[in-house]
Amino acid sequence: MHPINAIVYVSASVLPMSDGMLEALLVEARQLNLESGVTGALIYSDGIFMQYFEGEPEPMEHTYERIRKSRKHTRIVELMNGPIDVREFPDWQMALAQPSHSELLAISTANWVVQGARSGARGRGSVGLTLLRDFWRRRAPAA
Ligand SMILES: Cc1cc2nc3c(=O)[nH]c(=O)nc-3n(C[C@H](O)[C@H](O)[C@H](O)COP(=O)(O)O)c2cc1C
Repeated sequence: MHPINAIVYVSASVLPMSDGMLEALLVEARQLNLESGVTGALIYSDGIFMQYFEGEPEPMEHTYERIRKSRKHTRIVELMNGPIDVREFPDWQMALAQPSHSELLAISTANWVVQGARSGARGRGSVGLTLLRDFWRRRAPAA
């Protein structure tokens, strides 16, 4: 088994994102992620992005650098960055959801870091990850 890292951040979009702009961003991200084995989910609401992505350490570095350099967003705040046991979104090159602003707020302001977690419990106990999982289960999958 290869080690898998996950990163979660929130950021502010520089422009309000139309459906077409989000679609274009996703098409590019999914192609890149297909090549690098990165999977994850992007959430957008009212000028705020939140992204969860996961993959092997080296492609994750490159992906994160690409994301950090993008001029489409600013004020990136990292919520989580560390190893996980299993992928949360193994089937998604990059899923997209547009929740209500309050839902995004609830997920992004939750605690994403588990203090003193033993390996094996990593991530599983994080409130943020639990909220993201619950949110994803409740919604109908979009294309
Ligand atoms: C919100 C957001 C999410 C992104 N997600 C990914 C991603 O999952 N994988 C990836 O390789 N690049 C991702 N990128 C980077 C874009 O694919 C693209 O390389 C970058 O936006 C180009 O830079 P520019 O926006 O300054 O033109 C993302 C960028 C943004 C703003």
